Order: sequence, then C-alpha cells, then structure tokens
Amino acid sequence: VAVKNLAGKRILVTAGGTREALDPVRYIGNRSSGKQGLAIARAAAARGASVTLIGANLEVHAAATESLSVVHVGSTLELEAAVTTAAPDADVVIMAAAVADYRPDSVAQSKIKKETQGDTLQLTLVKNPDILVGLAATRAPGQLIIGFAAETEQQRDALVELGRAKIARKGADYLVLNRVGWTEGFATDGNAVIVLDRAGDIVSEASGSKASVAERILDLLL
Ligand code: C5P
Repeated sequence: VAVKNLAGKRILVTAGGTREALDPVRYIGNRSSGKQGLAIARAAAARGASVTLIGANLEVHAAATESLSVVHVGSTLELEAAVTTAAPDADVVIMAAAVADYRPDSVAQSKIKKETQGDTLQLTLVKNPDILVGLAATRAPGQLIIGFAAETEQQRDALVELGRAKIARKGADYLVLNRVGWTEGFATDGNAVIVLDRAGDIVSEASGSKASVAERILDLLL
C-alpha cells in the first residue's frame, strides 16, 4: 500500500503520442505507447492525488475501477485544448506525451490516391504550438510543471547538454530526459531517465520498470 503523500494534490498527466491526420484514414504519428505516463498517473492516484490523465492514442488503458479521470485526444491541437481546459485546476502538470512537432498544412477530405499522385507525394507540414512552453508561460502561481524529452543521443553528456538547453527553452521546473530508439524507451516496459532542474543540474536518475521510474519522478514533488 502506497503512502498517501500526495493526498489533496491535483495532478494533470499527459501520455501517449499525438497523431496528425493526412486524410480520413491516415496519419503521421510516433511510437509512444503511453505506458510511462499511465504509470505516473496510477502511481500518483495510489499516493492519494486526484489525477486527470489526458491520453493521446493510448495503447494501454486504465481499468474502469481505477480512480483516474481520463480524457482521450488524437491530434496536438486537441491535446492543447484539453490541457488548456484542465491545467488551471492542477497543482502539478506532467507532460509525458510525445507531441508531434508538425502537422500537415491541410487535411484531404477524401483518401489521397496513388493513381492521381504519380511516383512521389509531397507533403507540406506546419509547426504545431508548443503546449509545454505555453503552459509554463501562463501558469498559475505555485503550479509545478514537469516536461519530458525523448532523445536519440547515445552519449550521456550529449543527452544531458541537450536537456539543459531544452529546459531553459521550455520554462519547466523539471525535465525528465530519456533515450529512445528503435528498441529503447517507447512501447517498452522498462525505462531509464535523468531528471534535470531549472538550473540544468541532475537531481535524479532512475531506471527499471516504468512503474518504478514513475515513483522516482513523483518523489520530486515531495
Ligand atoms: O521539444 P520536445 O518535443 O523535445 O519537448 C518535449 C516536451 O515538450 C514534452 O514534455 C512534450 O510533452 C512537450 N511538447 C509540447 N508541445 C509540443 C512539443 C512538445 O508540449 N508541440
């Protein structure tokens, strides 16, 4: 039984990966499963927090019996709208979702057909809003914001350097850095993270199951 050391806290967690529609049947997406975000939401609820989980195309789901309030979204703009609605009521926002940086500039109203496209198909993408940057810039006093960064840098120093630049740019209080790749990070049951604070200092490192990594991330809130 978990110690209820987050009782009375309202925690908003985003998880999964956003998808950007190309046409009614296709999208551009990423391989985030939502496992780490769901593990954080579960662990926070077990510690007594009141938890809202905004899930983007989750491949894993909470049972109906779990005390999580879940909102489902698809695209980045839907995620942004849901986060904007829920964030003012949260003491802590944990942005674990993998958000598409770009979306197609227009969505075809019917299926794009190879018969009319020829041998190449050109897509134009436009930049999505950075939800985390917006959140940090407009946060209520006292609200704590945790960002994530999934990167493919293999060298630890390079990974941490990139994280330092990212937390400065984003304005979050903590940044949870993890390596992702063809076989690492996304969709797996384990994870390894390095957590940076605003000063860019390493304040925590954790590896193991996504459930155990979730506990170490929540320990930051104590
Ligand atoms: O810039 P990058 O995608 O690496 O940043 C990752 C962090 O920023 C994650 O916490 C993610 O949820 C958030 N993010 C966002 N909106 C975007 C891109 C990323 O909130 N458009």
